[in-house]
Amino acid sequence: MIPRDFIDTLLVRVDIVDVIDRRVPLKKAGQNYQACCPFHSEKTPSFTVSPTKQFYHCFGCGAHGTALGFLMEYEHMSFPDAVAALAQDVGLAVPESAQEPGRPKPPPALWDALEQAAQFYKKQLKASPRAIDYLKRRGLTGAIAARYGIGYAPDGSPLKQVFKDYQGDALVACGLVVENEGRRYDRFRDRIMFPIRNVKGQIIGFGGRVLDKGEPKYLNSPETPLFHKGSEIYGLFEARAAIKDAGRAIVVEGYMDVVALAQHGVEFAVATLGTATTPIHARTLLRHTDRLVYAFDGDNAGRKAAWRALENSLEALQDGKEVSFLFLPEGEDPDSYIRTHGRDAFLRLLDAEALPLSAFLVRELARDRKLDTQEGQAGLIKEAKPLLDRIAAPLLARLIQRQIAELAHLQPDELGRMGVRPAPARPVAARPQRRPAPSRLRGLARTLLMNPERVSEIDACWIDARDPLGGRLGELMSWLANLGPRTLPALAEAARGSSLEALVDELMTDLLDKDESWDWNAEFDGAVRQLRDDWRRRRQQELAARPLGSLSPGERQELTELARS
Ligand code: GTP
Ligand code: MN
Repeated sequence: MIPRDFIDTLLVRVDIVDVIDRRVPLKKAGQNYQACCPFHSEKTPSFTVSPTKQFYHCFGCGAHGTALGFLMEYEHMSFPDAVAALAQDVGLAVPESAQEPGRPKPPPALWDALEQAAQFYKKQLKASPRAIDYLKRRGLTGAIAARYGIGYAPDGSPLKQVFKDYQGDALVACGLVVENEGRRYDRFRDRIMFPIRNVKGQIIGFGGRVLDKGEPKYLNSPETPLFHKGSEIYGLFEARAAIKDAGRAIVVEGYMDVVALAQHGVEFAVATLGTATTPIHARTLLRHTDRLVYAFDGDNAGRKAAWRALENSLEALQDGKEVSFLFLPEGEDPDSYIRTHGRDAFLRLLDAEALPLSAFLVRELARDRKLDTQEGQAGLIKEAKPLLDRIAAPLLARLIQRQIAELAHLQPDELGRMGVRPAPARPVAARPQRRPAPSRLRGLARTLLMNPERVSEIDACWIDARDPLGGRLGELMSWLANLGPRTLPALAEAARGSSLEALVDELMTDLLDKDESWDWNAEFDGAVRQLRDDWRRRRQQELAARPLGSLSPGERQELTELARS
């Protein structure tokens, strides 16, 4: 984990206006800065950056956050990468242990070994007519092989000649060498080698394909400190620019599909590494693009894999992002399809045939069900419920919910009453973050963020549990008390990933239109006074409603005092 203190220091040193202005030119507007929002298209600026709160917010699409959050969204960076980038800007060194959160940092020898092996495999490809011939037969040119760093691992244990320290730990640890009953040999022998890179372009593992027939057809690096199948995406490094230009990404099943598509000029394809699509894959890809197409074989296995991909994408969805599914004709994969029919036919297929996630979801849920019977309708609802609950895009969830309700011959709100959580309403147009019900406690919560050190002045028993904010204010108070005094952006970052994240974000947004002359201490005093008075009134009513005889002497005295004040 990156130490909290370091993030606090970092956020004090950087200026969000500077960070954003270098990427999205800002104009001064009153006490804040503005621009047209980089996260949705608009003609009049509703993207606002507050220099004093060190926070940005778009009143059009609801995007918001600190300088760190901005880099993550805008540059598609992971949290540790964003921390590293900001730290570099202001000349701070990220504490050593902090770079890979939750994991020890792999020794540099592992990176070096993989890089060295990749260079070696590339050279061996040039020296192997058999391997070159194989790639040619698969329609690949030298240029594309070079772009993807494709190589060839000869038979035997050739890495013995490459590495002086063949017996050392690094080669085993990075998955290049296998140890069996005290003997060591190369993992990859007589295979076409596909280096797998992380988003920064560093090699983290390999996939190796047999040239002729043989088992297994593909051999991948094992899980190592550098290589995690469930989170890495093949070809993402190579495809980044093309994905940005095309405004979409396509996810295919195999290395060969990625390379063959690129060979034919479709350069925005990536692949998962012989595993099902995970939520991490979906999240990463949707950070890079707003339109994601999963391409699968048209057979039963393809449909099953597509369903897994759908399930694992639900939590990464956002309104405004589109996920769809392309099923190729029986017996074809993207590689064979584009080789036979060409680029234009492939792109037409992509545009015409890709099924939106919503349509695929509803189609699969309705499949093989007797929807004209109540049993069939009940089955549909039962299976739809948990899936609908996982959709992270409220508008889309609501629309799909309406369609499911229609199929089940219900009113949409009836579906809600059957325990399906109605998607939270969040209007798309201006001011999306407005609250459902006004809360007396909101002002207090807001000023509390500006005066976290005064949290001890509030007595938890004063909080009205019926207020929409009631429970969460208590939670906020104990969180603040534990955290100790922090600056505003440090609070926002500390809340990231916790149950308080949404509340803190909302309150930060409230704070944006208060200028520097605002007296936060006075507002805090006022809010606390009101909270205490409200509580006194409730308490007095409660005591007064009880028969005098049932009150203890203490309660009677309390009542007298309450009545007097
Ligand atoms: P080609 O036959 O070279 O065209 O490959 P393909 O991509 O058409 O093969 P397939 O659809 O069989 O496999 C898709 C992906 O699944 C591959 O890119 C590999 O990542 C993975 N895969 C396929 N076969 C194996 C295997 O035998 N072992 C492992 N570990 N992964 C495999
Ligand atoms: Mn294939």
